[in-house]
Amino acid sequence: MSTFYDEVQALKARYPDWLSATMPALRLAQEKHGYLSPDALRECANALGTTPAFCESVATFYDMLHLQPVGRHMVEVCTNLPCALAGAQRVVEAFEEQLGLRAGETTGDGEITFRTVECLGGCGRATVVAVDERYHEFVTPEKVPEIVGAVRGNA
Ligand code: FES
Repeated sequence: MSTFYDEVQALKARYPDWLSATMPALRLAQEKHGYLSPDALRECANALGTTPAFCESVATFYDMLHLQPVGRHMVEVCTNLPCALAGAQRVVEAFEEQLGLRAGETTGDGEITFRTVECLGGCGRATVVAVDERYHEFVTPEKVPEIVGAVRGNA
């Protein structure tokens, strides 16, 4: 069984420059640790041959990389302009009501983190909601209970 260090070396070997392996290495570290804790950043930096500060600086730029603990599932609503015009705020409020929390929080059982995010790239299909890595399009407040039920069913 290969170690995290070995897996990062394999990633680095795919690219002419180790910097290109930074994002996949951070994703790998996040998968292993659940989020990019200080330990995860140190381990990643060691495997890449750089500093934890560099890894953290990259991680802070990307929404999909988490520097704080998150739930086992991630529910994200895009609130950028096209989705906002399609009623994203009402979708956000429906999720907050269904989950009993505010955007940016995690359910008490640690299962679901809910948050708003920048454009998910599906502007023509607003409102877009990402559940883990699966996208739901044309989401309305009426569809929220079904989405939450499906997430809880998978929990
Ligand atoms: S603005 Fe929502 S997906 Fe682009």
